[in-house]
Amino acid sequence: SDDSGSDSGGEAAGADLDLVTEGTLTVCSDVPYPPFEDFDESSETGFTGFDVDIVSAVAEGLGLELEIKDSSFDGLQSGLALNSGDCDLAASAMTITEDRQENLAFSDGYYDSQQSLLVPADSDIAGIEDLAGRTVGVQQGTTGEAYTNENAPEATITAFPSDAEMYQALQAGQVEALLQDLPVNVEHARDGDYEIVEEYSTDETYGLAMQLDNTALVEAVNEQLTELRDSGEYDEIYDTYFSA
Ligand code: ARG
Repeated sequence: SDDSGSDSGGEAAGADLDLVTEGTLTVCSDVPYPPFEDFDESSETGFTGFDVDIVSAVAEGLGLELEIKDSSFDGLQSGLALNSGDCDLAASAMTITEDRQENLAFSDGYYDSQQSLLVPADSDIAGIEDLAGRTVGVQQGTTGEAYTNENAPEATITAFPSDAEMYQALQAGQVEALLQDLPVNVEHARDGDYEIVEEYSTDETYGLAMQLDNTALVEAVNEQLTELRDSGEYDEIYDTYFSA
């Protein structure tokens, strides 16, 4: 007999979950961080991106509405936003790390990523070695910040609260390079003014973050992620944002 209840009764899979707002999956994300999260006034949620499509599909599978709240990444990765009840889940291109697992529970991984170094196309910086005595921007609280602190100790490192601010600083010439997640630097390099001069195999995996003790939600989300992979919907979403 199947007592899991999935699809058998009329009850939606998410009906029993303890949520910030009943009937709604409230998701925090640090926006913009393209192609994972970005603003889009034409979309139903007001947001677009790989993470946004993934959590939309998860919410739909659970029979829940979706609300997305723009939040600071540092507050998300530290566990503060989730543990103070701002949202049920963080979808923010967040790497699963041991440190974060002390304060947060993660879903199964849903995207693999690496670090990278972005510089203006005419820069003489060819790699991390050249950062000694130069300025580099990172995002506060990220794995890119940790990687830079560790591997470019002689650089002048500025930590910005958001990718938007660090990208602006690069454009304004206030920093000479950005070190962060590869797909986001790929996005910034798209117009040809900037280029990625190095990639670092940090083998990171993004997970959806939840409160440490919310086992029921973690299980429900993982079921939905498995379902998305099995049905091919994951691949469709992937191709929307990552096919050439
Ligand atoms: N993957 C990196 C980390 O987990 C950076 C994530 C930044 N995300 C964002 N939405 N700004 O530290």
